[in-house]
Amino acid sequence: MSKLWGGRFTKTAEEWVDEFGASISFDKELVMEDIEGSLAHVKMLEHCGILRKEETDQIVGGLQALKEKAKKEQLLFSVEMEDIHLNLESLLIQEIGPVGGKLHTGRSRNDQVATDMHLYLRSQIKEVQNQIINLQKAILSQAEDNITTLIPGYTHLQRAQPISFAHHMMAYFWMLERDRQRFSESMKRVNVSPLGAGALAGTTFPIDREYSAGLLGFEAIYENSLDAVSDRDFIIEFLSNSSTLMMHLSRLAEEIILWSSHEFHYIELDDAFSTGSSIMPQKKNPDMAELIRGKTGRVYGNLMGLLTVLKGLPLAYNKDMQEDKEGMFDTVRTVSGSLKIFEGMIKTMTVKKDVMEKTVQSDFSNATELADYLAAKGMPFREAHEVVGKLVLSCVKQQCYLADLSMDQFKAASELFEEDIFNALSPYEAVRRRNSAGGTGFDAVQLAIQKAKRIVEEYQQEPAHL
Ligand code: ARG
Repeated sequence: MSKLWGGRFTKTAEEWVDEFGASISFDKELVMEDIEGSLAHVKMLEHCGILRKEETDQIVGGLQALKEKAKKEQLLFSVEMEDIHLNLESLLIQEIGPVGGKLHTGRSRNDQVATDMHLYLRSQIKEVQNQIINLQKAILSQAEDNITTLIPGYTHLQRAQPISFAHHMMAYFWMLERDRQRFSESMKRVNVSPLGAGALAGTTFPIDREYSAGLLGFEAIYENSLDAVSDRDFIIEFLSNSSTLMMHLSRLAEEIILWSSHEFHYIELDDAFSTGSSIMPQKKNPDMAELIRGKTGRVYGNLMGLLTVLKGLPLAYNKDMQEDKEGMFDTVRTVSGSLKIFEGMIKTMTVKKDVMEKTVQSDFSNATELADYLAAKGMPFREAHEVVGKLVLSCVKQQCYLADLSMDQFKAASELFEEDIFNALSPYEAVRRRNSAGGTGFDAVQLAIQKAKRIVEEYQQEPAHL
């Protein structure tokens, strides 16, 4: 079949040239969005008196037929027809005859492709948000089971102060909450209609852009036709929000990998989320967590890729922009896959409470408690820090921990120490009492969990969240 834009040409490109320029191999993913966009466009044309009712009915019927075939994956696309838009248009003409050619009145592929991308991201973002909530729920349930489970908190990957394991997990809940909010906030810019901007300059037909936007559920229309067809900020924003989300997942992945090592042994991943080695029979590898850490790189790459494609592009549409799609599809797949795996991994992991418990008993992460103890009795904190630092040094020399020192040794360091010092040194006490807002104290963590649960419940009552 000849090209839909072939009129001006006297010779056709060779197949391999067509192949290079075509996007159908990947933009066929937009088939449903493209049909939805066309349905809205043709209904608008009728509404504005540009097409007659019979013509519109025929086109709508043809598009519905294509939709049914698309659902059954029965549509045959060709490279010759270049992209999803021209493929569908030519299939429509095959389906209903020349009247199908009226669909493209007052429209261009430039506003069409932009419309498809807006529709696509709108539904994918909702899906990603649902998956974020599922992961948040898995984190919440591990947190609820582990409010009084203690682990060392780290800075510089050195043991710092004991904390509740629930508190540690909840830090990720709040990161994911920000991710979900970022996606929600981006909807303001995703849910905007470029349809009717034409190739770049609008159209002389008396179209009603608000009408087609309304049919597609868009909240607004682009104010400027050039901007409407040139804007890919909403994709950049999606890739950027996805990058931040993946960065968070990657940090948790790194902790999961460390925690499941023999050295830490804080958790054990379920067999269903681990793999073995082809040579070392004892191995149980946290492959899925490693892969998510690794896949974070490709999402960043997709963001950098699109920023670079758009850099320096003059207005309005340029074919360079066809490069916006593969990275976007890939990001959707990567983010969805990673969230789903993570949910399962967190739900099924075994938390080794006994190992964690033992670990916090055998370190100096209670040193701040001693300094705080002295400071509470009036010693300037800086001096208290010095006194405790010396005590730690003497413990290191004697190869013991602070709780092993005798009352006499404490008294020798400062007269302010009393018998209750041993209670203050208990990691359990150290954690229990840290109830400042957002702290790791058991009450503070309970409160945070309650708040988080309300957020999840509210989301479930209002899943549209546009
Ligand atoms: N396949 C093209 C893309 O994805 C659609 C828009 C083509 N427009 C044009 N004027 N060549 O960007």
